[in-house]
Amino acid sequence: MTFPLRRALWLLDAERAHRLTVAALRLMPLRAPPAADPILSTEIAGLRFPTPVGLAAGFDKDAQVWRELLSLGFGFVEVGTLTPLPQPGNPRPRLFRLPADEAVINRMGFNNGGLAAALPRLRRDGRGLVGANVGANKESADRIADYAAGVRAAAAVADYVTVNISSPNTPGLRDLQYGAALRDLLAAAVAERGATPLFLKVAPDLDPAQVDDIARAAVDARVDALIVANTTVARPALRSPHADEAGGLSGKPLAPLALVRLQDFRRATGGALPLIAVGGLDSGAAAYARIRAGASLVQLYTALVFHGPGLALRIARDLAVLLRRDGFTSVGEAVGAG
Ligand code: FNR
Repeated sequence: MTFPLRRALWLLDAERAHRLTVAALRLMPLRAPPAADPILSTEIAGLRFPTPVGLAAGFDKDAQVWRELLSLGFGFVEVGTLTPLPQPGNPRPRLFRLPADEAVINRMGFNNGGLAAALPRLRRDGRGLVGANVGANKESADRIADYAAGVRAAAAVADYVTVNISSPNTPGLRDLQYGAALRDLLAAAVAERGATPLFLKVAPDLDPAQVDDIARAAVDARVDALIVANTTVARPALRSPHADEAGGLSGKPLAPLALVRLQDFRRATGGALPLIAVGGLDSGAAAYARIRAGASLVQLYTALVFHGPGLALRIARDLAVLLRRDGFTSVGEAVGAG
């Protein structure tokens, strides 16, 4: 995207700017993903990622532009969250930029066109990895059944499926992170995943006992990886006018909390489960720090809003430099190096 277009987007309300960005991406001539530096190639859950830098869920909710996003240099793209039935999400406005904080607050509420509309647009074709993130409808009488249906449908077409129980914007959803509810949910999801890797996405707003419980349940259920983390309902000191909006906070102010939670999960899993770090990542140095703290892959969303479409390539290039500087020959060697 050219610079003047980006500047014009800043004049629009955040959700309209996002819609225009997706529309612009759809018009992009489709190119093959750029060749990645071989040092960045890494394998988890039987999948070979060309780079460990992915696009987090929520940007391409309806799987409209994942190929175009791969061509921007992301090593993988996670579409969704998709729910069994289409739903409109919360009333607008529900997406707020916090420029002085390089942050966003959203309370979208799983607005999406539903699994059946989006999944035909996915295909496993070896030309780039795409994950599908699934959730439950707000009005669902049986949320676990929604996840089971989502995993079943998405596992047939996506390279991996993420069970998202950590959105703060569907009332009660995060309750699925605890105790018997979590174990029932994971059993239902695992039963439907077939041979497709299954990831679990958690909130950053967890205490140490909750981290231990989730880690144990995920290992027991044979989940393939944990994504740490979704947006936070906490409000660290923020300077922007929209700081008091309800919803999930993402971007720079989330980074310290997301790093601590990653370290907690690394400790709790003892390395038994690959971890995917998300939250406030905006540089190669930050990605490298998460990898050294135990992440096998990283994802980002909010930094794209502030740093533009060249960010994935920049992070990948800088990460390769840092790995070589410290004598590593692969991403895998640096995972958890401290
Ligand atoms: C999100 N995120 C998100 N996550 C998810 O699992 N399903 C979703 O539908 C969404 N939707 C969504 C919308 C918007 C507008 C934002 C900003 C974020 C959370 C996202 O994937 C990520 O976990 C957090 O945003 C933290 O990473 P960043 O943005 O700080 O890099």
